[in-house]
Parts: sequence; C-alpha cells; structure tokens
Amino acid sequence: MRIVVVGVGNLGSAIVRSLMRSYAPKDIVLVERASDDRDALSAQHGCHVVSELSEGLRVVAGDLLILSVKPQDAAVACAQLAPFVSPDAIVLSVMAGVRIDTLAAILNTKRIVRAMPNLGASIEESATGYYYGGDTLTPSDVEHVEYLISHLGKRWRVEREELIDAITAVAGSGPAYLCWLGEQIERVAIEFGISPEDAHALVLQTFRGTALYLEQSGQTFSELRRRVTSPQGTTDAAISVLSERSADVVVREAVGAACKRARELGS
Ligand SMILES: NC(=O)c1ccc[n+]([C@@H]2O[C@H](COP(=O)([O-])OP(=O)(O)OC[C@H]3O[C@@H](n4cnc5c(N)ncnc54)[C@H](OP(=O)(O)O)[C@@H]3O)[C@@H](O)[C@H]2O)c1
Repeated sequence: MRIVVVGVGNLGSAIVRSLMRSYAPKDIVLVERASDDRDALSAQHGCHVVSELSEGLRVVAGDLLILSVKPQDAAVACAQLAPFVSPDAIVLSVMAGVRIDTLAAILNTKRIVRAMPNLGASIEESATGYYYGGDTLTPSDVEHVEYLISHLGKRWRVEREELIDAITAVAGSGPAYLCWLGEQIERVAIEFGISPEDAHALVLQTFRGTALYLEQSGQTFSELRRRVTSPQGTTDAAISVLSERSADVVVREAVGAACKRARELGS
C-alpha cells in the first residue's frame, strides 16, 4: 500500500514521523508546495516529495490518500487532487469539521474515512477517533486503515459522523487545553519564587505522573481527585475555589465552543 500525504504542516508532519517508524520510505509520498520544504522533507524522511499530483502520480486502488490541509483550504486542495484520485483509492481525512459528503462530492469517491488524531501522533501517542460509513469499505480496507491509525497511538471507532466533531473538541484540541492549564500553574509557581525551569519541569512531571498513575491504577479522574483531596486540606482549598468560581461551567462552555466551531468549519 502506498500512502500519499497532502498537507505536511503541524499534524501532517506528526503523522509522517509516526508512519516512518512502520512504513518504508518508498511507500510514502508527500505533497508539499514549497520547494525549500520539499528538499528538507526529502532529506529528513528519504521519501518521494512532490509539489502536486499529476497524470504520472495518480492515487489508485490500493493507495491511501491522507488529507491534512486546513479545513478552509480543503475545497481548493480537493479540487486540485480530484482528477488524479481514483474512486477505488481510500481517502483518510484528518481535517476538522469537513464532512464525508462534502469530500465525496469533490473527490468523486465514497471510500472516505474521517479520523481525528492529535499531536501525540508524532510520538505514536495520539488519541484518535475515526468514522467511516458502514458499506463504503471492504474488511481489508478497514484493516489497512486501522493498521495505519494504530501507528499513531490509540484509536476509537465511532458509529456516527457527528461524534468526530465531539472528538475534535475533546481530543484534537485537548493537548492545547492541558498546555493552557500547565501555563497557568507554571506562572503561579514562578510567582511563588520557583525558577522558570523548575516550574516547567514540576508541572510537566505532575502531568506525566498523574497520567501514568491513572493508566496503571485504572482509577477514574474523579476517584483519584477524591483520594488526594483531604477534607479541609490544601487540595480541598484549591478545588473549593474552582467550584465556587464555577470552573466546571467554564470548561463545558470552552469545549462546547470547540465542538460548535468544528461543525461551523464543516459547513
Ligand atoms: N494541529 C493539530 O493538533 C490538529 C489536530 C487534529 C486535527 N487537525 C487538522 O489537521 C489539519 C491540518 O492542521 P495543521 O495544524 O497541521 O495545519 P498547518 O500546519 O497549517 O498545515 C497544513 C498544511 O497544508 C498545506 N496545504 C494547504 N493547501 C495545500 C494544497 N492545496 N496542497 C498541498 N498542501 C497544502 C499547507 O501548506 P502552506 O504552508 O503552503 O499553506 C500546510 O503545510 C486541519 O484540517 C486540522 O483541522 C489538526
């Protein structure tokens, strides 16, 4: 199977880094418009890098086309690609919001999977949700797609396409929420007099230790939080402020806004 990646930006290059661990460079083709970036990508990965698809480079049966351009660029990019994409090829779109119907109409194929990875993909630690219509792919196509998605990290198949927008809001944007929280705690740590380097390392190790502990213990977020929150203790003092200020409502509104935006990008 040949894999053609269109849109080698933040997420596209994270995906390529992961794929390079499991696929031979000869099986991967990158489509990159900027000539300087083409040279750099070619030197970095040793795979074929082109400026565009052409009659000499069509995406055909057995190939998998990954679309990772910005949603705003999707229509133009797909219109450019369409003459060179066979209806037998499999298309894997990681673009937020852009619906399968929209892609199918431009690319003239129904063999489309939508996936929503996150930046963890660059170290094979993505949380990826994916969706495909029931009768559009053969079992062997599904095996190919799931094999590829598995190389990005952990995966969850959803039964309804609109749930991809929810996964976009939760996991696609999720690393940014955690980084935002990290920034806030780090800033307070520095105000307390901890050096910036130590503040960063302390917060990072706290995230890491918490995630690993949760994974290994099987506890829920709520269980672990209750365990480390003694009544009238220090953590309780912090959680009380968060509750009094209705931080849960703010989080719901924030993630809800991301989901709404994903739907808007699709239209
Ligand atoms: N970043 C994330 O964490 C994340 C997470 C989940 C999903 N996504 C989705 O992933 C997609 C890409 O996001 P990103 O953050 O990686 O964006 P990005 O860094 O802007 O990358 C997009 C890339 O696509 C290229 N491109 C645009 N039109 C093209 C065309 N017609 N042919 C070839 N290349 C083209 C751009 O090239 P130029 O620089 O030349 O314009 C750029 O290199 C988006 O749809 C987003 O919704 C991103």
